[in-house]
Amino acid sequence: MTDRELLPQSAAVPDSDYVIIGGTGDLSLRKIFPALFLRYAAGQVTNDFRFFVLGRQTITAEDFKAKLKPHCLAGMETLKDGEALLDRFIGLIEFNAIDISAKNSMAGLAEKLMNGADETRPIIFYMSIAPSLFSEACQRIDEAGLVLPQSRLVVEKPLGHDRASSLEINDKLLAVFKESQIYRIDHYLGKETVQNLMALRFANVIFEALWNNRYIDNIQITVAETVGVGSRASYYDQYGAIRDMLQNHLLQLLCLVAMEPPARFNADQVRNEKLRVLQALRPLEMDQVVMGQYQAYAHEVGKPTLTETYVGLKVLIDNWRWAGVPFYIRTGKKMTTRASEIVITFKNRPHDIFNKDGITDHDNEIPNRLIIRVQPQEGLRLLLTSKEPGPGGMRLFPSELNLSFGETFDERLPDAYERLLMDIARGNQTLFMRLDEVLAAWDFIDPLAKNAQGAIPLLYAEGTMGPPDTLLSDDGREWVDPKVDNDDAD
Ligand code: BG6
Repeated sequence: MTDRELLPQSAAVPDSDYVIIGGTGDLSLRKIFPALFLRYAAGQVTNDFRFFVLGRQTITAEDFKAKLKPHCLAGMETLKDGEALLDRFIGLIEFNAIDISAKNSMAGLAEKLMNGADETRPIIFYMSIAPSLFSEACQRIDEAGLVLPQSRLVVEKPLGHDRASSLEINDKLLAVFKESQIYRIDHYLGKETVQNLMALRFANVIFEALWNNRYIDNIQITVAETVGVGSRASYYDQYGAIRDMLQNHLLQLLCLVAMEPPARFNADQVRNEKLRVLQALRPLEMDQVVMGQYQAYAHEVGKPTLTETYVGLKVLIDNWRWAGVPFYIRTGKKMTTRASEIVITFKNRPHDIFNKDGITDHDNEIPNRLIIRVQPQEGLRLLLTSKEPGPGGMRLFPSELNLSFGETFDERLPDAYERLLMDIARGNQTLFMRLDEVLAAWDFIDPLAKNAQGAIPLLYAEGTMGPPDTLLSDDGREWVDPKVDNDDAD
């Protein structure tokens, strides 16, 4: 089935205007426009959309195309007439040199946008600029009369480095736009498998009954990357794994695993339930946290540094459902393999009728596990114990039910930004973070980040799963490492 054939089943997207402020920058070229292009190729973005790229200096369509092309067409060999399609798509973009520090610099843009404007046509302002420029950009939008009921504002991390600075940045946005107009991107929420986690939990009955401390022994969340910090060292060194990954992506995954079923699948109810999880997180003790730094990191940064490139922690959620169930969470750069995985380990059988009378149980009580692979090779594996076929008695051995989304749906799984950019046009905030969620995440992270300051991270060799820790072994458990088929790992 092609993407186009799938379209009638997907929620309609109204024709929209996207204004990308800082549109010639890296985020725009690597993520925003490639995602919009792929939606264009799928027919969801039509020739009636308009895109305005705002930059300090203008750029010609040819230059923009040359920069954009590798990000749009790489890996899209099966796309028919890709080059011609890209030309048509670029024809929808207008390039404007605008200095957002200069008063009234958006007046000309406003004229174009208002031409044909009506309340059903969203105007989407995407801040692809540093947060220090948000305030000025908002003022320009406001003075140009562009804060309209159909206007939306998109921002992305880093939105501050703690609660206070995050609130300060958000206050500037909220001085101009309403909360219901602000779309805070956490791109993990746009990943297919992350959304599938909600489908798995709330569209099936079999797991929900077991999804609690009666049946679950522990939950592990691993987001492992093989890349280092590369050219982002100056940004990363100020943030580290705690602020760059844990405060947002990992806590969001944790929320989706742990939240109560919302009564409706809508923005407020889903976000209310996620907020409740964040509010129930038990404050961390430092012996529940392990920080690491890969060996070459300081060399890459060019100076001695204590910034962590790995963090592992044991988190407890103080509510009825999760009391006593540890969530072990880790993320790091330069690890063995690129894989994000959620592993739910169920409790052992309460009474063993096997392992008696000469019955062989090869792995002696392998627990049932549900492994949700967020990326790559997205899918679900349910680890079971079954009988080894053949005569010779009751021999137990581990087996698994395996659902690979890629193979089952025979589809290219869309990039997270494709979904998120269309949801903004649809006015659907479900997969975006509300301010109270962001602040609750900082409330949990701030004491940790403060205590981590000055602490010496453990060095770990590149290509390992981070520094050794006793977080799990102290509890009689061990990390479950993702197993990736390296032939098609990316
Ligand atoms: C970003 C972080 O938000 O997510 C990066 O700033 C990280 O440091 C990236 O590499 C990981 O995203 P993905 O989609 O590749 O897992």
